Parts: sequence; structure tokens; C-alpha cells
Amino acid sequence: MQQTLVLVKPDGVAKGLTGEIISRFEKRGLKISALKMFKMSVEQAKSHYAEHQGKSFFDELVSFITSGPIVAMVVSGENAVKAVRSMMGATDPLNSAPGTIRGDYALNVANNIIHGSDSENSAEREINNFFTKSEIVN
Ligand code: RTP
Ligand code: MG
Repeated sequence: MQQTLVLVKPDGVAKGLTGEIISRFEKRGLKISALKMFKMSVEQAKSHYAEHQGKSFFDELVSFITSGPIVAMVVSGENAVKAVRSMMGATDPLNSAPGTIRGDYALNVANNIIHGSDSENSAEREINNFFTKSEIVN
């Protein structure tokens, strides 16, 4: 059993896609083990996206992810990290296959609706950035 961190980004929340995204994971057989809505702080954003510090799009990324409410969740299940990443689609929605979340609902790499951890190590670090142990249901 794996856990992964999913964020419905500000554009996904604003478009009313939170329910649809949760529904896709549940129908696939994944479980929601923690869930909350909040506005990310700049500190949390810099920590969450630390691997991208120094890149040309870093400032835009931090400003976008802190621009409005997001929904953060811990998604659990067999091979949850890889299953969620494949359901999200490629980073640039122009390369995301139809049927994926980004392929169905996004057009622009900066506004690509959803985040999912890219490895088990990232998932552990990212989950700890947003949730305490007591907020996660086993
Ligand atoms: P995420 O971390 O949000 O799940 O996305 P990802 O793994 O598919 O992509 P990643 O390489 O981690 O990039 C993080 C986010 O940065 C934005 N980005 N913009 N302008 C650009 O060239 C560019 N490249 C990446 C995207 O919003 C991406 O989700
Ligand atoms: Mg990433």
C-alpha cells in the first residue's frame, strides 16, 4: 500500500473540478485518507516546490499555487504514486492524453489543475509538509 499527495491547484478548485477529481480516484479503487482545503503559504509553496528553485518558472509557480484556495489530499492504495501520475497525464496539457485529468481539463502548463507526488520519497516529504500524522486515516 502506498500513499501519495494530490493537490487540486487553484485553477482546478476555481473550475469546480474537485469532486470530479476525487470521484475519478475513488472509482479507480484508490482511497482518500486525508482531505482539506486551504490557501497555501509562500513558505509552504517554496518548500513543496524546492526541487524547482532557481528555474525560470519558479516565481510564477509559487505565485500561482498561493493565488487561491487549493484542496490537498492523501490518496492511498496499491501503487498509488504511479496510478495517480498516470491519471493526471503529462505535465504540459498539450501532451496529456485525452482521458487523463490534464488532457481533459487543461490547456496550459502553468495552469495544469493537479499535482501528484512523483515518487514514494517525494510523497513522504510532501505529505509531511501539509498533514500531521493524526490527520491521516489508516
Ligand atoms: P506537479 O509537480 O505540479 O505535479 O507537476 P509535474 O510533476 O508534472 O511537473 P514538474 O516538473 O514537477 O513541474 C511543476 C510544475 O511547474 C510548472 N511548470 N511550468 N513553464 C514551464 O516550462 C513549466 N514547467 C513546469 C507546471 O505547472 C508543473 O506542474
Ligand atoms: Mg512535480
